[in-house]
Amino acid sequence: MQASEPLRIGIVGTGFGQQTARVFQAHPRAQVAAICGRDPDRTAAVAAELAIPYTFTDYHEMISSAPIDAVAVVTPPHIHRPVAEAAMSRGKHVLCQKPLAESVESARAMRDLGATSGIVHGMDQQFRTMPVTLYLKDFLNEGAIGRPHSAVEQIQIDIWGYYAYRGGSPSKATWFTEPTGGGFLLALGWVWDRQLFLFGSPRSVDGSARIAIPEATLADGARVRTKAPDSIHAHVEFWSGLTLITQLAPARWGQHRTRLEILGDEGALLLSGPASAPVLQHAGVTDGNYRTLTIPERYQPSDLPPGVDAGAFMIADRFVRAVIDGEPMSPSFDDGLRTQELMEAIGRSDETGTRQELSSGIHAGIPS
Ligand SMILES: NC(=O)c1ccc[n+]([C@@H]2O[C@H](COP(=O)([O-])OP(=O)(O)OC[C@H]3O[C@@H](n4cnc5c(N)ncnc54)[C@H](OP(=O)(O)O)[C@@H]3O)[C@@H](O)[C@H]2O)c1
Repeated sequence: MQASEPLRIGIVGTGFGQQTARVFQAHPRAQVAAICGRDPDRTAAVAAELAIPYTFTDYHEMISSAPIDAVAVVTPPHIHRPVAEAAMSRGKHVLCQKPLAESVESARAMRDLGATSGIVHGMDQQFRTMPVTLYLKDFLNEGAIGRPHSAVEQIQIDIWGYYAYRGGSPSKATWFTEPTGGGFLLALGWVWDRQLFLFGSPRSVDGSARIAIPEATLADGARVRTKAPDSIHAHVEFWSGLTLITQLAPARWGQHRTRLEILGDEGALLLSGPASAPVLQHAGVTDGNYRTLTIPERYQPSDLPPGVDAGAFMIADRFVRAVIDGEPMSPSFDDGLRTQELMEAIGRSDETGTRQELSSGIHAGIPS
């Protein structure tokens, strides 16, 4: 591609795909040329609202005939692999929403095809590129709390509000009504991805993946049985020596809440609040209490348009630069595969009642 030409994106998915479209439309070097959903009316309405020129109800058709250089995959996880493979096979660069796939087998196949096809492959994991996350990682690496040894992460989900959300596709319910949907173990794939970003390679995991709330009321009032896990607990040991306890659980008090507390031998860090705008706090050895940190300006993307999420813009910007300027893309499908291995190991630990080693494959011997 010429450096002066915009990157032309085709988006598959009209749910969160709308956010993806807005972020790329706000980027000065990208254009959203096409969008694809299954429901023709919904797809046409989204395209009209966002002024996207071409609409499709078949992603194969979009990939083969739309004027696009890249595909953003924003479908439910079990549709990521077929869409990404169709795109990569036709030489289109791919930015995939989290999780990379519904299984390690699919994630590995996607990573392998990405590695051999010469295209740019990226993960749309905006939680790891949020300014507060980047600052937190640097702060940890600079030794602000000494050697981190223990951490606890809690995500409380207003699952009732989530099920009754009207902005999603009707297909969204299948994430929970089909055992293959993956439930919150996969839907909250960003939690595991951010943990690996912050703490490095996991060595082993013990986990449970359960259904705490067996019935859901959907946006149209329908009551359905849930069949995929909504309540996940995991105990991960990292190669660095850090121990991390994670709880993802339904909580009925009208909001989602996140909290990550990291203890070191010279202080502690607390990241808490809404998932999209958490506050970072620090306590040193003599402080006794947390004090709130201000994120330095240098962690903001330099040309962030008003009203656009900084983490999402950063991912879009990295993807544009990777395709047009040949810069490396991070996070990539390699990162997606690592996260998938952890998620699948938690599920396997639940099924077998045994601790799972993660020391094989791409984790082998990698100290963090
Ligand atoms: N990063 C974040 O903060 C964030 C937030 C939310 C979601 N996500 C990710 O975004 C992805 C989609 O989630 P969502 O909430 O948007 O789900 P959703 O509301 O269920 O929307 C899924 C979209 O995919 C389309 N689709 C499904 N199967 C398809 C197929 N075979 N061909 C073409 N289109 C197909 C659906 O079309 P129809 O509606 O026409 O059936 C719908 O437009 C997931 O990977 C999720 O993890 C990320």
